[in-house]
Amino acid sequence: MTLKNKHIVLGISGSIAAYKAASLARLLIKAGAEVQIVITPSGKEFITPVTLSTLTGKPVVSEFFTANDGTWHSHVDLGQWADLMLIAPATASTLGKMANGIADNMLITTYMSMKAPVIVAPAMDLDMFAHPATTKNLDILRSYGNIIIEPASGELASHLIGKGRMEEPENILALVEDFFSKQSILSKKKILITAGPTYEKIDPVRFIGNYSSGKMGFSLAEECAVRGAEVTLVAGPVSLKVNHPNITRIDVESAEEMYNASIKVFPSMDTAILCAAVADFRPAEQYEEKVKRGGDILNISLVPNKDIAASLGKMKKANQLLVGFALETNDEESNALKKIVKKNLDFIVLNSLNDAGAGFKYDTNKIAIINRNGERIDFALKSKKEVASDIIDETFR
Ligand code: PMT
Repeated sequence: MTLKNKHIVLGISGSIAAYKAASLARLLIKAGAEVQIVITPSGKEFITPVTLSTLTGKPVVSEFFTANDGTWHSHVDLGQWADLMLIAPATASTLGKMANGIADNMLITTYMSMKAPVIVAPAMDLDMFAHPATTKNLDILRSYGNIIIEPASGELASHLIGKGRMEEPENILALVEDFFSKQSILSKKKILITAGPTYEKIDPVRFIGNYSSGKMGFSLAEECAVRGAEVTLVAGPVSLKVNHPNITRIDVESAEEMYNASIKVFPSMDTAILCAAVADFRPAEQYEEKVKRGGDILNISLVPNKDIAASLGKMKKANQLLVGFALETNDEESNALKKIVKKNLDFIVLNSLNDAGAGFKYDTNKIAIINRNGERIDFALKSKKEVASDIIDETFR
């Protein structure tokens, strides 16, 4: 009974895949969950509420009011009751309404009132799935912290072959079980994550910076938040957005500001993952006015910045975990091992600029995780989201 005592709101929208929602409801209940179905008006064209309520033992919720007695169905109560909202199948129209807050049916109002995590299993024809509007809506939903179960490829109801089939109920159940088991490990853990570059000011218009986009650190923050952790994300200057309610973002610009923010919050954290590309040096002097051309050479003296990781390493208590990154161009492993010792880290995540698709700016990364005993696990090139998941799995193993 892996889902014992779990309250799951199962949202069903109008797709032929709605017939699979009946098996899904049955599997969730067999695994111990209590399931409340919320269905859109067009969902009811594909599967009857009688079938669904017989399986769940609860009346299906579809309208805002019961027609005969005017009873109001509270989407707010459902939002507070649920441990998880699973929307399967989610049509293109439902995804669009979720992404844009068009609350014109009970499923969307429930979604918008939801306090619990949301998992979405899209189902539609291949061209609709490939349409830029769907891609954009899915990206928006991911940015809200929703988890998307990619549809499978195969023969669709239209007899066309391609991507758009809702994932099979057995696989969705496995994902839900995996989600809850990971959540139980991270739930309520306080995690500090640093991300992005730092800018070290030369004058009011120029700075010394680096190529970090923040993608790796933000993926880590989102992964931890989705798994139930309370994340403090100290972010250097990046253009990325976060919307997950479990993430508190502190924006900083310079290494000194990142140092001050990190030192302040670290004592109340369980774990810190230091992914930021922090400038090791800053100009000794900052010019008050824009430096003008003149002469051949402008010399800028640099002074060292404080090492955030090493400072947290000194403050670290026995019950705290400290994970650093090493971005290397040569002698990768020996440099990473030196950093573990120098900064008193528990693990280091090594990425090398010699690996194609790894490091700055890419949506992918290729890492190795090395512990204090020098034990090393290598991972394949993956999306930064998947890399974040591997790092969190290893950190909290
Ligand atoms: O942001 P992206 O474009 O997605 O790119 C991701 C990344 C390449 C920036 C990321 O994966 C990464 O490798 N981050 C660490 C980059 C780095 O500065 O590495 P380092 O080897 O110089 O530093 C070692 C560790 O000490 C890091 O954990 C770093 O955050 C920390 N450090 C470094 C200097 C300093 N003054 N204070 C620190 O805390």
